[in-house]
Amino acid sequence: MQTINVQLKKVIDTSYGITVGAGLLARLPEMLKRECPASSYVIIADKATEKLFGRTLEAELKKAGSKVLLLSVPNGELSKSQKEKSRLEEAMLKAGVDRKAVVLALGGGVVGDLAGFVSATYMRGIPYIQLPTTLLAMVDSSVGGKTGINNKRGKNLIGAFHQPSAVYADVETLKSLSDVEIRNGLVEAVKMFMTSDKESFEFAKEHLDEALTRNADILAEIIARAVRIKAGVVERDEYENGERMVLNFGHTIGHAIEKLSGFKMLHGQAVAVGIMVEAQIAHTLGRLSAQALSEVREILARLETPLSVLKKMKPATIIAMTKGDKKSVAGQARYVILKEIGKVEEKDGRFVEEVGDEEVMRAINNTNVRTKDTKVRTRKSLHG
Ligand SMILES: NC(=O)c1ccc[n+]([C@@H]2O[C@H](COP(=O)([O-])OP(=O)(O)OC[C@H]3O[C@@H](n4cnc5c(N)ncnc54)[C@H](O)[C@@H]3O)[C@@H](O)[C@H]2O)c1
Repeated sequence: MQTINVQLKKVIDTSYGITVGAGLLARLPEMLKRECPASSYVIIADKATEKLFGRTLEAELKKAGSKVLLLSVPNGELSKSQKEKSRLEEAMLKAGVDRKAVVLALGGGVVGDLAGFVSATYMRGIPYIQLPTTLLAMVDSSVGGKTGINNKRGKNLIGAFHQPSAVYADVETLKSLSDVEIRNGLVEAVKMFMTSDKESFEFAKEHLDEALTRNADILAEIIARAVRIKAGVVERDEYENGERMVLNFGHTIGHAIEKLSGFKMLHGQAVAVGIMVEAQIAHTLGRLSAQALSEVREILARLETPLSVLKKMKPATIIAMTKGDKKSVAGQARYVILKEIGKVEEKDGRFVEEVGDEEVMRAINNTNVRTKDTKVRTRKSLHG
């Protein structure tokens, strides 16, 4: 018997810049030529972003002398699928896209996750650049290199870590975004402030009305603050072995609710409900003060969180659904515990802990007691 050792100690630099500002898409063709030359650029968009920004970007890239392929998928979560991934790959292969090409992910989190995953596996991996056009994608999904698609058994179950080569968040693209999508993005930003940065939480509270009416400077500041937090977390824990799990605050319950709604409920709204319940769990465990809990409730109310959805779901069904969560270990869901605004519990580098079903049940019931009805918003058609 012989054993041959393959020594592959890797020291690789996958650092990248995140640029936040107005008018970045218009300047992109020149910036790409200088900073990210490629044999061709493959713009991956959805139907909405193809029409809003994709065709102009395609024309401008061509004008700057680049080879371009513009591809799009239907709008909505259902496009994070094996079927759409294969369709994109086929189109790229057919067009002769080679390993020196660069993918441009032009859209919200759906496009970012899907285009990122296509890039991760196409010819064993090619570079991609995130061009987020929703607030959620700007504050969260475009940063950190998590890419993937859904499976009928759950969200994001198939995927890869593949960091983008750059992120350009052009706040001008937010002008066409619906109010509910603006609120969705603000939920994720507020979540990061709640768990990691009290000062930014206060900033968001003070300027929330301006953000909701799309003041570009305030939105850019909120995006930059959220991205700084996320970048820091990703630098310390790229592969989610510890601290990165903090970003999942609200998502254990949020994903369960999203799934129980048949993915019809907007991700951000499901997460907002999840944040409320998970803050209530921390309070039920005696770890979060009543004052902090009411601050959480107040800001979520301003973001029109539809807590009434909880009344339509059985607590036991929600709890059963959390056990299939990616953070679960041996079928037991684990939670990030908020201990004050801006801080979560940490024990020996562990940021999540198991919570008994009884406490979770109590937290759901306590959230229900205080709930006024707010309309639950769904995307009329996930492929519309
Ligand atoms: N990778 C990560 O780290 C990470 C983090 C958080 C969320 N996510 C994923 O992100 C996804 C949700 O992202 P999302 O909320 O951006 O949804 P989305 O990508 O579906 O976009 C929402 C809607 O807005 C439209 N749209 C996009 N940009 C627009 C613009 N500028 N103007 C008008 N309409 C526009 C889209 O066509 C779509 O209909 C989920 O799949 C979630 O799992 C990933």
